[in-house]
Amino acid sequence: MRKKIIAANWKMHMTQSESEAFITTFLREIGDLDEVEIVIVPPFTAIPKVTELLTQTQNIKVGAQNMHWERSGAFTGEISPAMLRELFVRYVVLGHSERRALFGETDEIVNRKVRAAHVEQLRPIVCVGETLEQREKGNVEKILARQLRGSLADVEAKELHETVIAYEPIWAIGTGKTASSGQAQEAHAFIRQTLREMSDDATAEKIRIQYGGSVKPDNARELMSQPDIDGALVGGASLDPRSFAQIVQAGAPNEGL
Ligand code: PGA
Repeated sequence: MRKKIIAANWKMHMTQSESEAFITTFLREIGDLDEVEIVIVPPFTAIPKVTELLTQTQNIKVGAQNMHWERSGAFTGEISPAMLRELFVRYVVLGHSERRALFGETDEIVNRKVRAAHVEQLRPIVCVGETLEQREKGNVEKILARQLRGSLADVEAKELHETVIAYEPIWAIGTGKTASSGQAQEAHAFIRQTLREMSDDATAEKIRIQYGGSVKPDNARELMSQPDIDGALVGGASLDPRSFAQIVQAGAPNEGL
């Protein structure tokens, strides 16, 4: 069975001191819960502080929101995979729709980053998802297939095992509109089927696919109870330690028993 993975994408929020306050409360809220893998994805400047505060925990990893594909070089303003590794970062979110829409990232750029992440043993969380217009035109599968095949080109099966996919319908991000659990499951099943075609059955069964887009404590359980939804990538609701803890608890298989 795939272990659920729930990530807090803080985006451009949280100073170091705010991060410290968050982690202190969050650790108290979740106690010793370990059925779910948790990833905190702070802005770069808060990564060392968050890592330091989590050194005693096994189950909570630190992620980055982006990186460059080169190891070093004349790329003013960029951060390399090696720099992240040195800070004990384990995951990196790549191809988030905000990066694609606001910073011009194409599937080809995302693919370079995904391959660079694997070289450095960072696990990519690769985001895909359609706009409302694309959904209304009936193009969801076409868009998802193109993004997956482009972003994951030349990634070997053993690297795919270490890759997480996040399905984030763009119309649901930060809007309060969540995909229904049926719509999300349908997209996730399609993503898994595409991954199967790109690799093999065993690999596709192993890859975890998160849902993202207005995940909240009151919809998290229903979404994550779907067979192909293996966790969540949470933006807005991850800024509050109590609501993020509730979302994590909703993903724990034995929660409430
Ligand atoms: P949201 O963001 O939860 O605020 O919709 C999700 C994301 O962008 O990863």
